[in-house]
Amino acid sequence: MNKEELLLEIDNLSVTFGKGHRAFRAVDKVSLSLKKSEVLAVVGESGSGKSVTMMALMGLLPDSAAITADKLMFGGQDLQALSTRAKRQIIGKDVSMIFQDAMSSLNPSFTVQMQIGEVLKTHLGLRGAAVQQRILDLLNLVEIPDAKNRMEVYPHQLSGGMSQRVMIAMALACEPKLLIADEPTTALDVTVQAQIMELLARLQRETHMAMVLITHDLGLVAENAHDVAVMYAGQVVETSVVPDIFRQPAHPYTEALLQAIPELAVGESRLHSLPGVVPSQYDRPAGCLLSPRCPYKQDRCGTPPSMQISAHGLVRCIHATLPKRHEGSQP
Ligand SMILES: Nc1ncnc2c1ncn2[C@@H]1O[C@H](COP(=O)(O)OP(=O)(O)OP(=O)(O)O)[C@@H](O)[C@H]1O
Ligand SMILES: [Mg+2]
Repeated sequence: MNKEELLLEIDNLSVTFGKGHRAFRAVDKVSLSLKKSEVLAVVGESGSGKSVTMMALMGLLPDSAAITADKLMFGGQDLQALSTRAKRQIIGKDVSMIFQDAMSSLNPSFTVQMQIGEVLKTHLGLRGAAVQQRILDLLNLVEIPDAKNRMEVYPHQLSGGMSQRVMIAMALACEPKLLIADEPTTALDVTVQAQIMELLARLQRETHMAMVLITHDLGLVAENAHDVAVMYAGQVVETSVVPDIFRQPAHPYTEALLQAIPELAVGESRLHSLPGVVPSQYDRPAGCLLSPRCPYKQDRCGTPPSMQISAHGLVRCIHATLPKRHEGSQP
């Protein structure tokens, strides 16, 4: 890949909560990259570190989180070398994030226009009538009907879908180059989920912003993403292009995820097709983290596997290159 085209480059990002014997590495040497205008889906079971990875990038983790990275580059700038002030000008303006639960992300004490207005004043320095006009434009952009009156309401007066549209409007207020959408539709009912995802996909295409889409829904990945990163117990275990990953998953975990959905592109699929559960902080195995649950386990899996090149990306598995695996024979 031409490095020049990369908008986001994360290299060996680790996040550890707590200290000493209580230390828990929630994110373990995660490397991800994203090109301008493209969509990267991040998938993986609950607790695999998807949100913490992105919160670390956004600087949203509490002080109890120790963050290290070999590289955190955005738009050619080294985020780790920037002052807090300079970083704040990028994060929140060029990179914004929306969360799964819009209702609790909005401040209940402020009207829609106060909340969006605040972002416009802080990051764009807009004042007076320009603020009002931009709020109206944004609410129209996210297809909120009767936008002029809706500006005046408080979050509790909005439905879940409308709250999420307001969150999207706030996230788009500064025309970000990258939008991180962390399970943006999970809290909504199914028909509203589809509408919100359609809106996000349209806005992504029209504004050419890049997007990191965190999701459990492989249907959404198939429909919306260019690349996918699969996470397991804090590690990226496979990266690939879409749709190839659906035809030829390289990692046994990805294979299991795909087997969990009888037909692709159907609704929400929580990822529970393998026996057992994701190892907790106290029972992480020494070698490959999937090995206690993996149908292809061998003695060699006791050594931590490194990332290697696969047919469509990278994979953290010693079996991935075995030619017979995809024909159903187990090593
Ligand atoms: N502030 C925190 N302090 C301590 N541990 C945390 C903190 N935030 C997250 N964790 C732990 O880090 C791990 C990864 O959490 P994360 O929220 O990134 O998972 P996720 O992949 O986003 O899961 P989900 O799909 O449920 O959103 C979990 O074990 C979680 O309990
Ligand atoms: Mg999460």
